[in-house]
Amino acid sequence: MQEQLLRLKNNALSLILESNSVKDLEEIRLQFLGRNGELTQLLKNLPKVALEDRPEVGRIANEVKRILEDTIKQRENEIGKKKIQTTTLDVTEPGIRPPLGHLHLVTQAIRDITEIFERIGFARVRHPEVEWDWYAFTSLNFPDNHPARDDWETFFIKQKPDTKKGPVVLTPHTSSGQVRELEKEEIPIKMLNIAKCYRRQSDVSHAPMFHQFEGLVVDENISIRHLKGTLDYFVKSYFGKKRKSRIRPYHFQFTEPSFEVDISCGVCEGKGCKLCKEGWLELGGAGMVHPNVLKNGGVNPEKYTGFAFGWGVERVLMMKEGIEIDDLRLLYSNDLDFLKQF
Ligand code: FA5
Repeated sequence: MQEQLLRLKNNALSLILESNSVKDLEEIRLQFLGRNGELTQLLKNLPKVALEDRPEVGRIANEVKRILEDTIKQRENEIGKKKIQTTTLDVTEPGIRPPLGHLHLVTQAIRDITEIFERIGFARVRHPEVEWDWYAFTSLNFPDNHPARDDWETFFIKQKPDTKKGPVVLTPHTSSGQVRELEKEEIPIKMLNIAKCYRRQSDVSHAPMFHQFEGLVVDENISIRHLKGTLDYFVKSYFGKKRKSRIRPYHFQFTEPSFEVDISCGVCEGKGCKLCKEGWLELGGAGMVHPNVLKNGGVNPEKYTGFAFGWGVERVLMMKEGIEIDDLRLLYSNDLDFLKQF
């Protein structure tokens, strides 16, 4: 029996040392140490061994079992290490490119617009997004009962109103930066205010959160000609040399006279087509700063005049050639398939 045990051990060891896979090792383990394996079968003959030899045979059988288990484990480790080494050291395998993102379309537009205006001396400024009614409405000549103040247009913050500056709102337009800018008493002013605006509106051309860019120029002898020149310059720089701008009479509380600004249609070049009907597309508002607004900012309207314009970043972007977006809200839907196109 001892001899048979030694032969079994040697057979098993040579098979273990020659094996090259974990699967082979498992088969060897079952062949020798499994429930019906060779060692178990051999030990079934133990009752036939002389009584005085049985403890010694039992000890040798346990020893063989331990040696085989240890050697299988050791061989498993060797095979595992070899595998890791071959995979980590294969420097010829091509790498996996990490996904590369890009700036959001609106961020790109804000950068383009900023660059265009900075070239002619406008300085980008920032004013509060959560603003007093005074700066958003009252100082801009809005009467108390103006519909823009209605809950349906403006988001009000739950906060006790200030006795002088009134309630707190999420700023509904970048014009709320006008009087803040005038208060700085640093004339001449040539500011570009690009910021988030909030209104209770949501449809294909309106989002509850959107961006406006606002220009304000105040100095001595500023006239409509300066405004028209600036609009033409922007339209040609942003949309292309062939595009023209025009101003039409309109009404805003804080400019007098006020205008709506149009650009010639990029599809028909101003002749009239299905998209534009009469050759022109509406861009946004503009006008000469109202004397009351200058006064509210502590600026003498007898000495200084100014112009202002305020347009939607998303709308301007959607009018650019090559960008066809039929729902403005898509810009904020976080749909990667949509955003990756640009
Ligand atoms: C104003 O907000 C004026 N403050 C503009 C102005 C500034 C006039 C300076 C004169 C002098 P209006 O409400 O029309 O005007 O908005 C201006 C532009 O903002 C619109 O033409 C449009 O492009 C954009 N806009 C307005 N509401 C939304 C909205 N909910 N979603 C996306 N864009 C909007």
